[in-house]
Parts: sequence; structure tokens; C-alpha cells
Amino acid sequence: MFELKWLWQNLEGNRARYILALCLSVVGSSLTIVNPYLSQRIVDTFIAGDNAVQNLTDKRGLLIALCLGMIGFSLLRTGLAYFTTMQYERSSQNMLYRIRIYLYNKIQGQDREYYDHNRTGDLMTKMTGDLDMVRHSMAWIFKTIIESFTIFAAAVIYFFSIDTGLTLWMLTLSPLIFVVAYIFAKHVRPMYVDLRERLSQLNTTTQENISGNRVVKAFAREAYEIEKFTEKNVNYSTANKKAALVWLDYFPYLETFAQAFNVILMLAGGLYLMEGRITFGEFAAFSSLVWAVSNPMRNIGIIINDIQRFFASLTKIVEIYYARPAIVNEHQATTKRRYEGRLTFEHVTFKYDSATVLDDVSFTVEPGETIAIMGSTGAGKTTLINLIPRFYDVSGGRVLVDGIDVRELELDELRGNIGMATQDVLLFSDTIDGNIAYGDPELPEEEVVAYAGLAAAHDFIVKMPEGYDTVVGERGVGLSGGQKQRIALARALAVHRSILILDDTTSAVDLETEEHIQNSLRGLDYPCTKLIIAQRVSTTAEADRILILDNGRLIEEGTHAELLAKRGYYYDVFMLQNEGIGRQVMAHGQK
Ligand code: CTP
Ligand code: MG
Repeated sequence: MFELKWLWQNLEGNRARYILALCLSVVGSSLTIVNPYLSQRIVDTFIAGDNAVQNLTDKRGLLIALCLGMIGFSLLRTGLAYFTTMQYERSSQNMLYRIRIYLYNKIQGQDREYYDHNRTGDLMTKMTGDLDMVRHSMAWIFKTIIESFTIFAAAVIYFFSIDTGLTLWMLTLSPLIFVVAYIFAKHVRPMYVDLRERLSQLNTTTQENISGNRVVKAFAREAYEIEKFTEKNVNYSTANKKAALVWLDYFPYLETFAQAFNVILMLAGGLYLMEGRITFGEFAAFSSLVWAVSNPMRNIGIIINDIQRFFASLTKIVEIYYARPAIVNEHQATTKRRYEGRLTFEHVTFKYDSATVLDDVSFTVEPGETIAIMGSTGAGKTTLINLIPRFYDVSGGRVLVDGIDVRELELDELRGNIGMATQDVLLFSDTIDGNIAYGDPELPEEEVVAYAGLAAAHDFIVKMPEGYDTVVGERGVGLSGGQKQRIALARALAVHRSILILDDTTSAVDLETEEHIQNSLRGLDYPCTKLIIAQRVSTTAEADRILILDNGRLIEEGTHAELLAKRGYYYDVFMLQNEGIGRQVMAHGQK
């Protein structure tokens, strides 16, 4: 039920409108009995009553008034229904808008771990289908419930005012209907939860396939992917059919009960009519309102279905709401400081789930130093640098920036002091200019060009059809891996941060370009500590110090010369890479 409370909270600003809509529903539905009442009067006075013929001539005015009244009330009800629906739509759309923004912010604020464990397709389902289901329920299902209930109640009250006995006869069926409906509801609920899960799986598969289409094509696995999709599609469709079939099991009972109202009315009502207990007009009123009693009963199945779906969806949405990131921004910095850029790792260990990825890593980097990090793939290099901007928190030990534990720093300030080019480059569907200036939208055009130049990207950018205004990314022009890396590098340089982290950023560029980038990094016009993950000795050789990670442990640390002298891992890598170059040089020489 707390989910409903949550929904109510989010209706803020529209509560009055929503309550008005609910009240109007009640009023509008109560008016349903007005016309049967008027026709009862007409029948009893002008058609079947004792003085019908006499009245027809004497009270013609009343007859006309009653007829006009019927027309008037019909119009009134239609107008009211229109107005009411509008209030429902407005308040629920406003609520949806609000929740959507809220959830979006919530998702944006989640930490990396959340994204490691939540599928994009599932989040998309929550943000679209589930949200819409909730809105639909607020605007339509609750309306149907209120209206069915009011019509039922109004009809029953009206019936009681005519004849208690006959009304009781008619109500004998109600408990049975409720029992059937209750059993149905219990049966069908898990099915809707299941249905919702399958839809989410279907969406996830679709989303992964679309975004991963290049890989699918590269491996010519289209048939396999289509099969995988078909399987999810069949699952979803089967679950849908199953839920629909359950409904079919109950439908005949509910329908029979609903029809039985008519039979009871004919039998009991006919009897009472003959006994003179009720008049023709009253019988006609019963008869014309019998639907008001049977329809809600009939609708109960549909309503239950929808309510189950509503709760299945609502639960999923509320999950987003209550997901609390472990890494939160606790204090708001009023003025953001610029750090000096001293980094310290103190006995840092880190586990993703249970496997230890970093094991007792300690080192210090002084402001302005350039540190290269090297190590075999999977050694934990990316993990290590992810701890600095707190994408993840350490499992043991401490990471300090300027001598302060990162967990005690203001998160925006901390991240605002780090420029990063991540290993898997992601550019937005935007112009090259927009991508480079992503971290600082105010960045003047000349600076964009300047940083693109430093990142060795300027030359290829100006050759593109629209230069810096070329749109890249999903719908834009394709870029090579090395070109993307260079744009990402320019983006990281352009924010002038005191700590610059480059994760394998020059892995896809040629040696000449790399040298250009090396020079740029040395000559940056702002003070900055640099952490550079690299595999090439040509990159690491220039660094002030080199750290070698192996299997989560720091196994070597020192300058190029020191590490070579040590004849360890670094020396081996150096020999391996230079042997290659040596061979190439020899091959050239022989030509
Ligand atoms: N890992 C994990 N969960 C993640 C990321 C990584 O369990 N979300 C594990 C990987 O399986 C790997 C280890 O953490 O064994 C280290 O990963 P990473 O730090 O990314 O390794 P790198 O040294 O950066 O490897 P590479 O050179 O290939 O980038
Ligand atoms: Mg990595």
C-alpha cells in the first residue's frame, strides 16, 4: 500500500484536480438513476397508471417537462463526463510528467554498480511502459472503479426506495460474484508479474540487439539473434495468452451471474407486479437499471486484471525510487575548489562482488607528476583509476586526494577536478564541437580548436564534410577508433582539471601521432597530475614514474631506467616491444 502513498505524494499540485475528478465521477454516475426515475413517472402517470388517459389530456405540461428533463439530463451527463475525463487526463498527465523527471534524475544519480546490475532494456521498460500503465490506471481504471461502484450503489439505493424485497432478491447473487472475482484475482496476479518481466526481457533483447548490431553483423549472427528475439517474443506472447485464457475460465461464471439478474427480475418482479406490490413504472425502472447492477459485476474481471497490471508496474517504478546509490553526494560545496592534485593510495583493496581485483595497493603521486600504469589485461588498471572519482568505493584501505579521503570530499567537486578519457570511448550524437566542449559548454571555439590540435585531432576534423560541426555518434558520420580516442582526449583536456586520467587513450593511434600527443601533454598550459594507462613502452618511457600492476598487486614501481635495471616485468615488455621494432628496422634496412 505504500506504493499508493508514494503515488499520492507525486500527485502534489494536482491533488485538488484529481479529487475534483473523482467527485465529479460520483456525481455524474449518480445521475444515471435520474432518467429511469423520470421514465418511471411517465409510465406510471401517462401509460400504465389508473388515470393514464385522463392524465394524458390534463397534465400534458408535466409530460413535456418530464421528456425535456430526460433530454436535458442526458446532455448534462455527457457534458459532465467530458469535463470529468479532462480533469483525469490533466492531473494524471501532470503527475506522469513529474514522476518521469524525478525518476530520470534518480537514474542519473545512480552509481556505476547500479548500472552493472540493471539492464538498459529493463530501465527503459520502467520509464515507458510501466509509467504509462500507471497513468492509464489513474486516469481510466480508477475512474471505471469509482463509476461502477457509484452506479451500483445509486441503483441499489433507488431499488430499496421502491421495494426492499425485490432488491434483496436481486442482491442474492452479489456475494457469489465477489467470491468468483476474488479467486480470479488471486490466480491472475502472479501472471501479470510474470508478464511484466517477460516484456522487460523482450525489451532488453531488442535494445541489446540494436545497440550491438555491429557485433552481430561482424560475427554474422543475425539468424541466432533473430532466434533469440523470437524466443523472447514467443515467451511474452505465451504469457499474454495464458493470462487471457485464465480470464476466459472465469468469464462464463461472471457472465451467467450477470444474466441471472434479469431472470430474477422477471420471476420475482413479475410476481410482485401481479400481486400489485409494485407498479408498472417501478418494474420498468428496475428493468432499465438492471444493467447498473450487473455491469459492475461483469466489469469486475477487467478491473481486477488492470489493477493487477497496475500494481505490477507500480512496484517496478517504486523500485527505482527506492534504489539508493551507495556513493552519494553528501555535502553541497558552495564554492568549488581547485585541488593541487596529490594522489595517495593506502593499502587499497577492492572487490567487485566477491573476487578481489585490487590487493593492498599503495603509492603516492605528487602534484604535477606524470605516472604511467602498465600491466597485463585484466590486471585491474581501469578498476584502480575508477576509485579516484569514486565510481566505486574501496573495499579496504583509503584513496586520498590532497591528503583527504575521497569519501569525505564533496562528490561534484572531486569529479570536477578530474579530467578523464575512459577506455571505451563514448561520444554523444552531437557535433564534434559539442562533444569536445561537453564538460564546459561555454568553451570558446578557439579553445576547442586548440585542444583538438593538442590531441592531434584538428587535422582530420577539418577534413570532415562540416569540420567541427560534423555530427558524430549514433546517427552521425562514423569515426575510426583512433579518431574517437583523440576526440575523447580533447574533451578530457579541454576541462583544465588538476588531475588528468587517460585510460589506454593512445592505444589505437600510430606512433607518430602518439608522439605528438606526448608532447602536448608535456606542454599543457595548466598544472595537472597525469595518470596514464598504457601498453606501449614508448608512452611510458617519458613518465616520471611507472607503476606495474599484476593481478591486482603493485609489483614494480620506478622510472624507466630503474625498471629496466630491475629486469622484471617491465624489462620483459620493453624487450618484447623493441625486438619487434628492431626486426622492422632490420627488414627496412634489407630492402
Ligand atoms: N571486473 C569485474 N566487474 C567489472 C569490471 C571488471 O568483475 N565491472 C573484473 C574483471 O573481470 C577483471 C578485473 O575486474 O578480472 C580487472 O578489470 P579491469 O580493472 O577493467 O582490468 P584492466 O587492467 O583495466 O584490463 P584492460 O587492460 O583489459 O583494460
Ligand atoms: Mg582497462
